[in-house]
Amino acid sequence: MKINNKNISVIGLGKLGSCFAACFAYRGFNVLGLDINQKIINDINNHKAPFLEPNFDELIKKSKNKLKATTNPKEIFDFSDIFFVIVPTPSKKDGSFSNEYIKRAIKPLVEELKNNKKFKIFTITSTVSPISIQKEIIPFIEKNSSKKLNKDFTVIYNRTFIAIGDIIKGILEPDLVLIGENNKTAGDIIENIWKKVCINKPYIARMSIVSAEITKIAINSYITTKISFANMLGNICERIPGAEIDKITSAMGADKRIGKYYLKYGPAYGGTCFPRDNRAFSHFAKTKAKIDALIPISAHKINEFQTKFQKEKILKIIKENKINSLSILGLAYKIKTYVIEESASIKLIDELLKNKNLKITAYDPINLAIEETRKVFGNKLNYAKNLNEATQNKLIILMLPYEEFKKVKKLKNKIVIDLWRM
Ligand SMILES: NC(=O)c1ccc[n+]([C@@H]2O[C@H](COP(=O)([O-])OP(=O)(O)OC[C@H]3O[C@@H](n4cnc5c(N)ncnc54)[C@H](O)[C@@H]3O)[C@@H](O)[C@H]2O)c1
Repeated sequence: MKINNKNISVIGLGKLGSCFAACFAYRGFNVLGLDINQKIINDINNHKAPFLEPNFDELIKKSKNKLKATTNPKEIFDFSDIFFVIVPTPSKKDGSFSNEYIKRAIKPLVEELKNNKKFKIFTITSTVSPISIQKEIIPFIEKNSSKKLNKDFTVIYNRTFIAIGDIIKGILEPDLVLIGENNKTAGDIIENIWKKVCINKPYIARMSIVSAEITKIAINSYITTKISFANMLGNICERIPGAEIDKITSAMGADKRIGKYYLKYGPAYGGTCFPRDNRAFSHFAKTKAKIDALIPISAHKINEFQTKFQKEKILKIIKENKINSLSILGLAYKIKTYVIEESASIKLIDELLKNKNLKITAYDPINLAIEETRKVFGNKLNYAKNLNEATQNKLIILMLPYEEFKKVKKLKNKIVIDLWRM
């Protein structure tokens, strides 16, 4: 197998893919990215970050000689032997992930493979349901290229654990790099790429493809369990006079067997990964192993309950104080991002709007998060332009732990509910 390991292609230059492409280029690889979105292509070719992420703009400028983007798959095929595929894998109704975008994105490359003798490595970085690479993606490539796995091409499942709002750091300094493989040489190539990309020395876990597919969703599912445990405990403590949730979770987290991360009482978890990985894990266990994954199922139920619990608390305050308006500060699913997918604030607003008389003012320090929220709720909400406008109501709910929200707690004659107890 002869592979050019200096040139890398990234298929799908979205929130994640564009950062991967920039990081690979920054760490010395020649990178060509592919997307169907012309604006993203133009941004990258003009050395502009197509998405908002800390340090992204700076990095893309630094790597401008090594990074280019195109909409032409043929250019990609000719340019490199290693394709990182990072396109969407939307959740289906049953909780599993759809592979349709992956298949559509790789199809032109697979068709090129048909008439070509070069060995290619398809590195799937999108989240997939366990067993789908073996059952769906490899057969798709074999069928459409008339070529054979490990003779003409191979497929790797490769994941790093990255959080939106911290993507660049997550790529350059991950705790863990997961490599699912059934071809040792290709696994070595991908491992060596990561050794060059990372500025730290992460744990590189190599295993079978199905093990890696399971590991990815098991990790996120486990984290949701921790969050939901803290939230369940917090709700209980709220009803027990004298019970101090933060002292309890700090003590628990000091025990190394538990660890302090994701153990803080707060709003429901959300975002692009946790909720859907949790549901995908339950679906996978039920359909492929005929086992009810009771822990993820409960974590999910607790998460749904969390919004309702907080809504009841807010409605009680509204009733007691005879008010009909409130402010929600922090709309995205976490700080430093505009992404509102499955965000606790969006769910809470949705619940609160069932109360027709309530007037809600929404605000987020990231303007794009406000614009995303406007797309969901339109004129059902008031949108504040700044913190001053956002804090005119008597009742203020702090949904995200932004530093600048701390001063809201000092305002006179306000009722401030800080769900993170900053
Ligand atoms: N690696 C990680 O740790 C990690 C973390 C979060 C999410 N993910 C996964 O990564 C994947 C991508 O997530 P995202 O947030 O970047 O999505 P995104 O929607 O921001 O970006 C996807 C990109 O793919 C492009 N695309 C779609 N079809 C294409 C095609 N046929 N050819 C070329 N490009 C195409 C889109 O135009 C878009 O720019 C998802 O599966 C997500 O679950 C991975």
